[in-house]
Amino acid sequence: MIKDFPLFPEAASSVANDIDLLFWAMTAICGAVALGLLVFIIYFGTKYRRRHPDEHVLDYDEPKWLELTWIIVPTIIFMGMFLAGAHLYLKITRPPENALDVYVTAKQWMWKFQHVSGQSQINELTVPVGQPVKLIMVSEDVIHDFFVPEFRVHTDVLPARHMVTWFQATKTGRYRIFCSEYCGTDHSKMTGFVNVLEQNEFQKWLGGGVAEQPPAAQGAQVFERYACDTCHMETDQGRGPALAGLFGRQRQLSNGTIVRADENYIRESIVNSGAKIVAGYQPIMPVFQGQLDEQQLFQLLAYIKTLTPSAATTDPNAGVTTDRSTNAVTPRTDAANASTRDGAAGTE
Ligand code: CUA
Repeated sequence: MIKDFPLFPEAASSVANDIDLLFWAMTAICGAVALGLLVFIIYFGTKYRRRHPDEHVLDYDEPKWLELTWIIVPTIIFMGMFLAGAHLYLKITRPPENALDVYVTAKQWMWKFQHVSGQSQINELTVPVGQPVKLIMVSEDVIHDFFVPEFRVHTDVLPARHMVTWFQATKTGRYRIFCSEYCGTDHSKMTGFVNVLEQNEFQKWLGGGVAEQPPAAQGAQVFERYACDTCHMETDQGRGPALAGLFGRQRQLSNGTIVRADENYIRESIVNSGAKIVAGYQPIMPVFQGQLDEQQLFQLLAYIKTLTPSAATTDPNAGVTTDRSTNAVTPRTDAANASTRDGAAGTE
C-alpha cells in the first residue's frame, strides 16, 4: 500500500541525492527551529503570565552573551544553508564539457527532442545511462517547464531564448516527463518519457531507425542559403568574424566587455545582430528576427558548434580570441562557397 504512494520520487540522476540531502537538511533545521520557538512560547507564556492587574514588567538588563549567541549561531547555520544551496545551484546549472547535446522544442502541447546525430523524437527522449546529457531548450509559443521528478530536473522553457539544463541518469529505466508550467488547455497532457538505456543499447538505438539529417548538416545548408558565408569566411578576412572555434570562447566586444559565446550569445548575434559587436568589426549584419524559425536557429547553432579550427589548436577553453589566425576550417570547399555567394546576399 505504502509502496503505491511514494512520499518521494526515486533518485535516478547524479545530482538527485545531493538535492534530496539539502532539502531534508533544510526541512529538519527549519522544523527544529519552529518547534523550539513553539515550545518556548508556550512555556514562557504560561510561566510568566500576568497573575493580577497590578503586576508590571520588571526593568531588566538582558545579558549580552545571550543576545550575541542568538544572533551568531543562526547566522552561521543559515549562511551554511545558503552556501550549500549555491554550491549545488552552480553544479546543476553548468553542464559538463563532455555532455551529449539534445535540442528540445516545447510547444502546445508536445515535446520534440532532436539528437545531434539526427534522430528526432516526440514526447520520448532516449539517452544513455552514466553520461551527461545537455538539453538546449526553446519554446515555440508560451512558457513551458521541463520536469523529470526522478532526475530532480525542473527548468522553465521560454520563447525566444535558449534555456540550458543537464542531467546524468544513474539508472536505466523509463521516467516521466511533465510540463510543469500551466500552458493552456492540454497542459496536463503535455507529458512524455525519458528512456534510459545501457550504453551499448543506446548505440544500437542510434544505429537503428531512420535518422533525419543531423541538425549540423541542416545548419550548414541554412548558412549557405542565407549567404552567411559571404561575410563569415573561413578566416578573419571577412566583413564578419570567422566562426571556427567560436562556441564556448570568450569574445571581446567593441565596447570593451568580454562575453562567453554560449547558446544565447549565438542566438542573439543572429536574430538581433547589432546587440553585441565583436571588437574590430562594423555593425553591418542584417537582423534575422522573424526570418528564421526555432528549428533553423537550432540547426545554425549545431552547425557553428561543429566548426573547429585545425585539429592542432582545438582547445574549446582557450582565452580571448580576437586574434585567431588559424585558417583551416571544416568541411565546405571554396567552390561551394562561391556558388552561393553570387547574387544571394541580402535577397532572402
Ligand atoms: Cu506545456 Cu504546461
